[in-house]
Amino acid sequence: MQPSLTLGIESSCDETGVALYHSEKGLLAHTLYSQVKLHAEYGGVVPELASRDHIRKLLPLIHQTIEDAQIDSKDITGIGYTAGPGLMGALLSGAAVARSLAYAWKIPAVGVHHMEGHLLAPMLEENKPEFPFVCLLISGGHSMIIRVDGIGQYKLLGDTLDDAAGEAFDKTAKMLGLGYPGGPEVSKLATRGETGRYIFPRPMVDRPGLDMSFSGLKTFTLNTWLAAKKQGDDSDQTKADICRAFEISVAETLAIKCKRALEQEGLNRLVVSGGVSANREIRKKLDALMAKRKGEAFYPRLEFCTDNGAMIAYAAAKRLDAGEHNDLNFACRPRWHL
Ligand code: KG4
Ligand code: ZN
Repeated sequence: MQPSLTLGIESSCDETGVALYHSEKGLLAHTLYSQVKLHAEYGGVVPELASRDHIRKLLPLIHQTIEDAQIDSKDITGIGYTAGPGLMGALLSGAAVARSLAYAWKIPAVGVHHMEGHLLAPMLEENKPEFPFVCLLISGGHSMIIRVDGIGQYKLLGDTLDDAAGEAFDKTAKMLGLGYPGGPEVSKLATRGETGRYIFPRPMVDRPGLDMSFSGLKTFTLNTWLAAKKQGDDSDQTKADICRAFEISVAETLAIKCKRALEQEGLNRLVVSGGVSANREIRKKLDALMAKRKGEAFYPRLEFCTDNGAMIAYAAAKRLDAGEHNDLNFACRPRWHL
């Protein structure tokens, strides 16, 4: 088979990501522009502003990535873009640029599922997992446990019944008056928190099955914070102690669910990806679980935990190499099951 060179474009939310993946040489270059500062003053992503910023940044980033990779745009054999799930305007911005380039360059384009991108991100690392494995996908919009037997062979084992893990971090941060995005802020403050001052529940662990729920934990956090404030204690230390209890509860809950999934599937390889997989406490708990089981946990490098173009380029390359592509009128899907 001729080697392929895939341009990947991510624009589903508030990060514009572009990357070039070569089937034999691996990842050649990747660029990222984060809109975090733009949305921070609103405390969350403003869809209209996100789309406008993607449009402004996409072509300069594509130029930059091609320059960084030291290739000629004529060598690109296919393009992949995130077709969903995500914000419709943001998705359309990336899709329009990707499809226009594919049309102009007479090469195939493929719409990639954003969560497939996250799921495959650890494949970009030197120490990558072999199939089959259990994948814990934890991001701002999703919390899923999936059995993965190969590219495109995904069996959903468990899902959140309400909030995603990242959403729970973001909402907890908002309640405590911390910045956006909340995950890294809660995590940073938690390092200064006292372990054990508060003990939060581990949601859904007493029930059989692999589904998760984080909205009750969010309410528990709010009630704890309100009770502390009522007693005149709104100190930074109390905030840190609450963050610590919240983070430990999420990490332990995820570890219990992962253990259950691995036992159920008879597997001992765990892949953890999506924005929340950057969390140190969660990694610590899952590493301990896998060490005890004499198995292994695989993660993307920190910069590829959150949204990026590299994971989309990789997923697209695998699909294009397998002969898949989409018509240029392929629709974006703001809601899309994996
Ligand atoms: O994967 P991602 O970039 O976007 C989605 O596809 O949703 O994930 C973003 C989510 C946000 O909720 C953010 O707060 C969370 O990942 N996050 C973290 C950490 N870094 C990012 N949550 C906990 N700890 C972190 N260190
Ligand atoms: Zn994402």
